[in-house]
Amino acid sequence: MVTNLQSWNIKENDFPKDADDQTKVEFMLHYAVLAPSSWNSQPWKFKLSDGSVKIYLDPERRQPQRDPLERENTISCGAALCNLQLALHRYGFSEETAVLPDPQEENLLAEVKWQNIKTPGKDNKLFKAIQQRHSFRKPFKPTVVPSNIINTLVNAASIYGCDFIPVTNDSLRKALAGMVSEGDKDLGSEKALRQEYASWMRSSGRKGDGVPGYAMDLNALEGILSPLTHRFFDYTDEFANGDHTLAAAATLVGIVCTPEDTKKWWVASGQAIERVLLSAAANGIQASFLNQPIPVPELRARLQSLMEIQSWPQLIVRLGYPTDLNIAPTPRRRLSEVLM
Ligand SMILES: Cc1cc2nc3c(=O)[nH]c(=O)nc-3n(C[C@H](O)[C@H](O)[C@H](O)COP(=O)(O)O)c2cc1C
Repeated sequence: MVTNLQSWNIKENDFPKDADDQTKVEFMLHYAVLAPSSWNSQPWKFKLSDGSVKIYLDPERRQPQRDPLERENTISCGAALCNLQLALHRYGFSEETAVLPDPQEENLLAEVKWQNIKTPGKDNKLFKAIQQRHSFRKPFKPTVVPSNIINTLVNAASIYGCDFIPVTNDSLRKALAGMVSEGDKDLGSEKALRQEYASWMRSSGRKGDGVPGYAMDLNALEGILSPLTHRFFDYTDEFANGDHTLAAAATLVGIVCTPEDTKKWWVASGQAIERVLLSAAANGIQASFLNQPIPVPELRARLQSLMEIQSWPQLIVRLGYPTDLNIAPTPRRRLSEVLM
């Protein structure tokens, strides 16, 4: 039984409407954990009390080779924060969120103070999209994403002070695709990093974390063997070529950028990317991440000059209409494992 995929089966009407407020907010955390995270590491912990939820970075989920400063893990927690805020609004709660509220607590990323005002938000499209969003790593349909939807994505990121820069121009996108594959090669040249990647690959969705082979667009046998084969063999060229093809062929690539490269802005870019992805999913569009130039300082600088920006690129995604409407979800850990 693939029990860890059940997290996705949560129903809006399962909301415990007769329970106390804290139990209601605990229910909403089922939506927070459906956020995307780097290698599906789910690097979050939640501390729930009467009137607030604190979101912590879980140091046990670190990826020291790929993410030594925990930039990507902080972004992932920002995405979970976005989902929690949407769920609170959906169920009639107001919230006041402080990012990095206590400098003494290094891993405390946000405190969300909530109040049951019994006034649900009017527009629940983004809340509903939490269960519709999945990473989609196969080629997209050739259909172009209309400009009004691209504007919606730009606006979604701007709510958190971030830029979503659409790259629709062919030559820019091809240059970017080149940098993605250079990033793959640069990162993959480190054996320790390749081993770390392999440690997050899963032969199925049975375990509550990591990326199963089916989600990486591997065939059944490759998927089953991937945690083992990737530990012993170097697949860097395959990754680089595959990502290059996907980036060059996408009709829309977007870059999320922040004015500063600080922890506070990493949280904001997590909220921003999740709102972008949910706005896309609400319109039948899915995405996959192609961040590889960003952890390589030289490539990140080249990306800034290619795009003629001073701001800090945090994430790169390709977006489009999926060829497959039944995308198999990736697993999640049980809520009891992420509650402090
Ligand atoms: C900060 C961050 C970085 C990510 N980096 C990559 C990446 O480099 N390559 C990739 O294929 N997916 C990447 N992902 C997507 C995750 O692998 C994906 O969210 C996770 O496996 C859960 O699957 P889901 O998005 O389908 O729910 C990233 C996600 C986040 C939030």
